[in-house]
Amino acid sequence: MRQSKNAGGSVGKRTARPRHYLMCEPTFFEVSYSINPWMDPSRPTSTERGLSQWKTLHDLLVELGHTVELVEPVAGLPDMVYSANGATVVDGRALVARFRHEQRADESPAYLEWFRLHGWDTRQAAYVNEGEGDFLCTGDVILAGSGFRSELKSHAEAQEFFGKPVLGLTLVDERYYHLDTALAVLDDNEIMYHPEAFSPQSRTLLADRFPDAILADAADAAVFGMNAVSDGLHVVVPEQAERLPDQLRERGFEPVPIDMTELLKGGGSAKCCTLELRARP
Ligand code: ARG
Repeated sequence: MRQSKNAGGSVGKRTARPRHYLMCEPTFFEVSYSINPWMDPSRPTSTERGLSQWKTLHDLLVELGHTVELVEPVAGLPDMVYSANGATVVDGRALVARFRHEQRADESPAYLEWFRLHGWDTRQAAYVNEGEGDFLCTGDVILAGSGFRSELKSHAEAQEFFGKPVLGLTLVDERYYHLDTALAVLDDNEIMYHPEAFSPQSRTLLADRFPDAILADAADAAVFGMNAVSDGLHVVVPEQAERLPDQLRERGFEPVPIDMTELLKGGGSAKCCTLELRARP
């Protein structure tokens, strides 16, 4: 049993808010194609190891007091484990992904069906939109990435669909092809990010808007330290991150290390496997 407080518990001024997540078991996990620089189909993967790392993450989120729902994995869709890409869900409305690569296209109907069956107000994006891979909610704005996956028109579409302002950010390093590989929302208006992953203009935007953000160095970004899941207190981060745990503790967060190295072979870590479902307020 973990010693730390569960959701609803707090340490110092930080409070964990219970969350609702959607995950997808990596039953069919493998790296059989390459659509990002991390994926090397010639390098062996272990579905068993992927499953056990995923299960550790799943059980940890449950133990922290969160509700985790599951979408059924589909054979032939090995990237479906990265459920963060399935949709963006805000105020009870789900904007389901439209994937850039044909290898992932068939994930959309699976996610559409799940959201419809579970009673969410659902629409599929008209433009390329990779869900929470590129759309991250802060208290005031939705941060939206472009450059590699989601297209610019999807930012305007999300703004219209959710009725919330969207702040566009440009990614420039192909290793950090989704926004959630370069930036994480830690609390309502607190973030951490790896500045070098962004264009100079986007770095200025981020520095102006989030002057107190945690800045991650290249080594921590390269182990997917930015692909973290925060409940406002606990921050689930890859255990290979070195400086990040201290940086988080200094701000009153509680880092919770996890090993996701098998799923990193597909180009994703903890956050990629976790889609937050935000109900109507
Ligand atoms: N292999 C997947 C892809 O390239 C990994 C997706 C990672 N997910 C994420 N939220 N960044 O599309």
